[in-house]
Amino acid sequence: MGSVETHAGRVAVVTGAGQGFGRAIAVELARRGADVAVIDLNDASETVAEIEALGTRAMGVQADVAQPDSVAAAGEEICGSFGHVDILVNNAGVYPFRDFFDVDFDYWRTIQAINLDSQFLTARAFAPSMRDRAWGRIVNLASNSLGLAVPALSHYMASKGGVVGFTRGLATDLAPYGITVNAVAPTASRTPGGEANIAGDVLDGVASMQAIKRGGVAADIVGTVCFLSSDDSAFVTGQTIMADGGLVRL
Ligand SMILES: NC(=O)c1ccc[n+]([C@@H]2O[C@H](COP(=O)([O-])OP(=O)(O)OC[C@H]3O[C@@H](n4cnc5c(N)ncnc54)[C@H](O)[C@@H]3O)[C@@H](O)[C@H]2O)c1
Repeated sequence: MGSVETHAGRVAVVTGAGQGFGRAIAVELARRGADVAVIDLNDASETVAEIEALGTRAMGVQADVAQPDSVAAAGEEICGSFGHVDILVNNAGVYPFRDFFDVDFDYWRTIQAINLDSQFLTARAFAPSMRDRAWGRIVNLASNSLGLAVPALSHYMASKGGVVGFTRGLATDLAPYGITVNAVAPTASRTPGGEANIAGDVLDGVASMQAIKRGGVAADIVGTVCFLSSDDSAFVTGQTIMADGGLVRL
């Protein structure tokens, strides 16, 4: 990773930062100078401690990003404590494999709520603060599975397709306020969630089809998220960048 303080003076919020991609993103943003609030359903104190050890401000908020009241409360707590927010990384998400004939409507709705509704709720919570200061960066986690024939993931692919569409639409609506909105699409990766949800032969099989033939790890998307949350990407918006070892080409 680079050592420049590209994010000095910025305040970032990273959802699902207790582990996996979110944790790696939150820590790298801090290493680049940002104060970081981490939101997670579970305890994220290890991420908070790692950030504090880097010398920037950290704050852990336990919240469910799928619940409107929970996100609103987290938004008030974070904006109240840090004063404002510049960067939002919508990383929290779940990806359980389930055969289509076992997906009922409640299950479908649960997945859409966690993976897609959450990104609407957090954008509503934090974009006003960005608008007030005429600068903002929103980075949404999508998935390269949208470009693949992966079985038992239609509920997930629908939610991530929604993320790509939301990213495109929101980019237009927020551009007048100096706010960019982009998405990053990882490949099947060995994060804690990846190890728990994706069979080993699927992880290896996906890696074998990539141009860069090794399994993804949490660090693989961090640089792209940092670029999209920095001044360097000021003229890039509405895009979904595949940070996936060169598997899916858009
Ligand atoms: N790992 C992969 O193979 C892969 C591939 C493509 C995309 N992604 C996407 O990357 C993102 C992160 O994935 P990961 O592999 O790091 O997952 P992970 O399971 O390792 O970590 C996800 C974190 O999100 C938190 N979380 C889940 N639901 C939440 C909720 N309702 N409210 C608040 N926090 C919640 C969890 O507690 C956990 O700490 C997800 O959006 C996922 O869809 C992952």
